Amino acid sequence: MTFAIEKTLPYITQDEINEVCRRLGKQIESDYRDKNLLIICILKGSFIFTADLIRHINLPLSVEFVQLSSYGSSKTSSGQIKIVKDITSDVKGRDVLVVEDILDTGSTLNRFREHLMGHGPKSVRICALLDKPSKRVAQIQADYVGRVIDDLFVVGYGLDFSETYRNLPEIRYLPD
Ligand code: IMP
Ligand code: MG
Repeated sequence: MTFAIEKTLPYITQDEINEVCRRLGKQIESDYRDKNLLIICILKGSFIFTADLIRHINLPLSVEFVQLSSYGSSKTSSGQIKIVKDITSDVKGRDVLVVEDILDTGSTLNRFREHLMGHGPKSVRICALLDKPSKRVAQIQADYVGRVIDDLFVVGYGLDFSETYRNLPEIRYLPD
């Protein structure tokens, strides 16, 4: 690839990401035995993480995709969300695990969780690949966290800056 950003050192390497997916997948597998697991992948940022994570969960499960967009600039979220694509299957009675790329202010997931609760799931938990607790505004935390990170803007492995860099195989931070 020819991204200038590739001259910087990876912030989270492919090996570390693989290890995170394995660890979280096994933990989820043991917590969701005898449950009715429905994974909800939040597009676009968590498509790669979800694909890797679910292959470490050796249980019957189904996967749904939701696309949310927050009205804000490219590096901050405004707290207002729009559901661009909603789930198509019934969540009533399901044990829902929402898979998100990064929990930043928490506004996006907080609003989506309210929307989901209105559809009567049996339980809702959150799995976030990355967590930036220093930026949190909303009352929300992830039940499963891949890695806590500093207040940096990161890209790659599904995460974008203005729709670029999603295809980087590792996570890098974008210098100011
Ligand atoms: P929140 O509503 O502030 O928690 O924002 C969550 C969403 O903002 C994530 O799902 C990402 O799409 C995006 N986001 C937040 N921080 C970053 C980052 O460091 N890199 C790329 N996207 C980010
Ligand atoms: Mg994004």
